[in-house]
Parts: sequence; structure tokens; C-alpha cells
Amino acid sequence: MDGIRIVGGAPLSGTIRVSGAKNAALPILCATLLSDGESLVRNVPRLRDIDTAAQLLRTLGRDVHAEPPQVRVGGGAVTPEAPYELVKQMRASVLVLGPLTARYGRARVSLPGGCQIGTRPIDQHLKGLEALGARIHLESGYVVAESGRLVGAEVVFDMPTVTGTENLMMAAALARGRSTLVNCAREPEVVEVARVLNKMGARVSGAGTDVIHVDGVDELAPFDHAIISDRIEAGTYMVAAAAAGGDVRIDNVPVEDLEALIAKLRGAGVILEPDGNGVRIVRRDGLRSVDVMTSPHPGFPTDMQAQFMVLMCLAEGTSRISETVFENRFMHVPELVRMGAEIEVQGHTAFVRHVQRLDGASVMATDLRASASLVIAGLVAHGETLVRRVYHLDRGYEHMEEKLAAVGARIERVRGVSP
Ligand code: UD1
Repeated sequence: MDGIRIVGGAPLSGTIRVSGAKNAALPILCATLLSDGESLVRNVPRLRDIDTAAQLLRTLGRDVHAEPPQVRVGGGAVTPEAPYELVKQMRASVLVLGPLTARYGRARVSLPGGCQIGTRPIDQHLKGLEALGARIHLESGYVVAESGRLVGAEVVFDMPTVTGTENLMMAAALARGRSTLVNCAREPEVVEVARVLNKMGARVSGAGTDVIHVDGVDELAPFDHAIISDRIEAGTYMVAAAAAGGDVRIDNVPVEDLEALIAKLRGAGVILEPDGNGVRIVRRDGLRSVDVMTSPHPGFPTDMQAQFMVLMCLAEGTSRISETVFENRFMHVPELVRMGAEIEVQGHTAFVRHVQRLDGASVMATDLRASASLVIAGLVAHGETLVRRVYHLDRGYEHMEEKLAAVGARIERVRGVSP
């Protein structure tokens, strides 16, 4: 199994280029199921989750040529079944449920696995599809949805769910009549999916607000689309640069989608200057602690919580970091403590006290963003850090070690590390 070895303490300098957004590419690849003919998705990141999505589409019967940054998905007969072996590798596989039900009137999708961050149910996806007329039952660990043509309806989500909103937009796009989705997720990836659906001939309005209207159409066309850049990857490198110090330019940053993070970084004393389509990050002085509470977009992203916590270990004072989106998303804390961090978790809040330094250690990644936080901790720690189980990292970061090495980090991938 691969690991990442880091010798900490090197300041970073140079330019990092952000790749396409994983969380936009995944639903958009699933949206290809809504039409026949060949769709072309560009600016797709080279990631394990993208390989899994390509494999899933092939299993469903589609012809897929995945050569990131381009992925071509052809038409073709579909067997509407997403097996456990694929869904357990990637929870976002549930995004085929809406398109399959809407287009083929039947879907059999294994209940998801994926990141071990809380229970993460899909009840809102199922409730929404039922409101559009699908009949749903569970059998042997699978969700089975059956329907004639879906019929537009009002769906009120109990909480904003990103993939739930995307699944329902895709399903409603082919329903008869108007659907109104209320209490929707407002993430930029939801807006991106709506953009693609409209390119396909759908009539979706309001994406990016909490009420989305979808006027169903009889059929949708294939599309050609370049994916927006990954705000979480961009944010991760912003925090890495701030933590390691130096002078780094990050290219392809969707600055307007990162306002909550940028405000917290500035509050902590990091200098951020917009620079063309990127951001320059400089840290000269010490860091100050700031409090953070995660919430749905446009709030502070839960996907940045673990990385930001490392920065707060180095900041003067005590930072209070509250996680309100997911339960059980502090699994990086015990590993950071092994590196010398002083963090106490009380319920949904972590109290992060300033330490003079972190020390390198052998640590274990437990989920995607936790892995990124351990890499950042390794960049600033004294001595050598070995991050194990980096297959989590490879799910969501394209060549992270190469991008960081190119700006001066002493970091390399090592093969054959014990799990
Ligand atoms: C997406 C992102 C993930 C990010 C998360 C929150 C993708 C592929 N993944 O995940 O990186 O961390 O948004 O920004 O886009 N919930 C329910 N029932 C449901 C659906 C969700 O109770 O049917 C709860 C979840 O347990 C969680 C909250 O709603 O507490 C938000 O989850 P959701 O937005 O659905 O996350 P994902 O779409 O899975």
C-alpha cells in the first residue's frame, strides 16, 4: 500500500495549479445517463473516484473513454443496477439513482459506503424521488426504485443535501410538469450541475438559492462541458501555504466560492492577494487563532475543517472549531495529537490550543479530508512524517505530492507501506 513521506519545515514557494472539481465531475458524469449519444466532459481531475465513476457507468452499459482531463461517455443500452462493489468504494455512486429512475423507470442501487464520517443516510434522496412518483423499496442492501414517467411535484428537504439536491434536479429534469425543490443545497457544484442540465435542454432555474424550479422536458441531449475548478483543493493548498509559510501562488481559484475560508484565513493573519485567476498567499508574522463553525454553503465548508484545524494548532491562543454538518468528523484529531497537537473534543466542538511545534510521526489517514490535514501537519512538523493509507487521499486530490514537491516541499510517495 502507498504512503506519503514528508520531511517538514520547508517553506513553500512557486505556483500550484488547481484541477477540476471532483464533486462537480461526479454528478455531471452521472448526468450523461439522462441522454443518448456521446457527451464530452473536460477538465476532469485524475482521481480514484473518477475511475470508480467511469467503472460504474461501464457496469451500467455505457461506453466510457476516461483519459482525464477528458472523459467521453457514449450512449448505449443500460442495465440499471449499481453493485455494492462499486458503491461501497464511493458514496457519490448514489447519484445514478435519480437519472436511472427518470430515464429508464427502474434503478437498483446498493446502499452507499464511502467516507466513514457518520451515518450519512440517503433518506432525503428517496423521499424526493417518491414525491415525484417513484415506488421505492429496500431489498438485500439495495434500494430499488420503479416508476412510469416521473411527475413534477414539490419536494421540501429536511436539511440542505448536496447530492440529494443534485439527484432530484436530474430526476425532475425528465419529469412531466414542474417540480419545486425547497431548502436546497446552494453549493457551487449544484449550480454547475444545473448549468450542464440546461445545456442538455433542461429547464432548471434558481440553482444557487434554496428554491429550485425544474420544468420537465421529454428528452435531453448529450453535452460538451468543462468542469469548474475544485474549491476544496484550492482551499487545501491555501491552508497548506499558510501553515508552511513562504510565498505561493495558487492558480485557477474560484475566489468567490471560498469567501468564508478566505475571511478566516485573513482573520488568522494570513495575507491573501487575488492575482488574476488565482490567489497569492504570504505569511510573514505569527498566526492568531480564530473560531470556526462549519455549515452548508456559503458557510465554512465541512470539507475544509480538518485542514484548517492544523493551521489553528500553530496559532496563538485557543481556537474553537465546531462541526455542524457531519457527526463523527474529528477522526484526524487523535492522529494530530500523536504529532504533538493539543486538541480536546467536546461533542461537536474541538478546542485547539496553540503549540510551539508539531513533531513528525507515523500517522494513518481515515478519510479524504483527514488525509489532507495530516499531509499539511507533516509539512510543518519537525522531522519525518509518514502518512499511511493514502488511498483516501488519491480519491480526491490529483497528484498532491507532486504539486507540493514542485513548490519546495520535501514530500514523496513510498510504495509498499504496511497499512
Ligand atoms: C457532499 C460532498 C461532500 C461534502 C458534503 C457536505 C459530493 C460528492 N460530496 O456530500 O464532499 O462533505 O456534501 O458539504 O458532493 N443527510 C441526511 N439524509 C440525506 C442526505 C443527507 O440526513 O438523505 C445529512 C448528512 O448525513 C449530513 C448532511 O445531511 O449530515 C449533509 O450531507 P450532504 O450534503 O448530503 O452530503 P453529500 O451530498 O453526501
